[in-house]
Amino acid sequence: MASSSLISTAAKRLEGKVAIITGGVGGIGSAIAKVFCQHGAKVLIADTRDDESQSFFVHCDVTSESDVQSAVNKAVSTHGRLDIMVNNAGILGAKVSDILDCDATDFVNVFLVNTLGAFLGTKHAARVMKPVQRGSIINTASVAGFMGGFPHAYTCSKHAIVGLTKNTALDLGRYGIRVNCVSPYAVPTQMARSYFGLSEDDKFDVYSSLKGVDLMAEDIAEAVLYLASDESKYVSGHNLVVDAGFSISNLALNLFNQ
Ligand SMILES: NC(=O)c1ccc[n+]([C@@H]2O[C@H](COP(=O)([O-])OP(=O)(O)OC[C@H]3O[C@@H](n4cnc5c(N)ncnc54)[C@H](O)[C@@H]3O)[C@@H](O)[C@H]2O)c1
Repeated sequence: MASSSLISTAAKRLEGKVAIITGGVGGIGSAIAKVFCQHGAKVLIADTRDDESQSFFVHCDVTSESDVQSAVNKAVSTHGRLDIMVNNAGILGAKVSDILDCDATDFVNVFLVNTLGAFLGTKHAARVMKPVQRGSIINTASVAGFMGGFPHAYTCSKHAIVGLTKNTALDLGRYGIRVNCVSPYAVPTQMARSYFGLSEDDKFDVYSSLKGVDLMAEDIAEAVLYLASDESKYVSGHNLVVDAGFSISNLALNLFNQ
């Protein structure tokens, strides 16, 4: 059965809720926006890449506190509330494998977008969620948030997001606000294609420990939907890993290598 017909028979899980998605023009963010809208949410896309096709869009650089503050204020002034904040905007930075070749400016830029951006999104969402004592904040981390093997800046910035998630879950839990993150494995978006040197037409063929299934942006969106909805009302401080077991396998020892 197609997912749209499933939604028409099942309850809309975000009916009446208002959400901001940073980086919502890109691959994963745009899939999250689509699933949220299908489930009845009003979605404000906040991105540096302007997208005229989005009816509810705000130009927002997540490294700028005033931009993030304005995006949150726009959601509240338009719809009277903010229920869900998805801090998803991210960059990979330079693909450099030798630390001696790593540029300090690139390192800082990756931290500014990935980590400071999630911090500012959390802070300003909390500003409007605290008075009403409810809300769900979801950060897009990565398998690079708890394992190595990726560019230094990216790995460090994503580890920091997992830490931010845990710390703010404890802080904001006092006010009824939940904070969680999702950690995707490789998803065929512009970011991952450029990392692997693949064009739009190239087959996205990465290692998987689960046969017969390809990870898509929509799968991450479904995980975020769970964390955004009331179905996860007692889940906070959690890192929802969407990797079909990639991060629990040691390819050197794995008896089950395909
Ligand atoms: N694609 C993957 O394999 C993968 C895996 C794990 C985690 N992630 C994470 O998922 C998130 C989304 O990645 P994607 O694969 O969709 O990438 P993408 O490059 O397709 O989209 C990223 C979006 O973020 C926006 N953005 C970049 N800098 C910004 C800024 N300063 N302010 C506001 N918006 C900004 C871009 O314009 C773009 O729309 C990122 O945080 C990424 O690290 C991706």
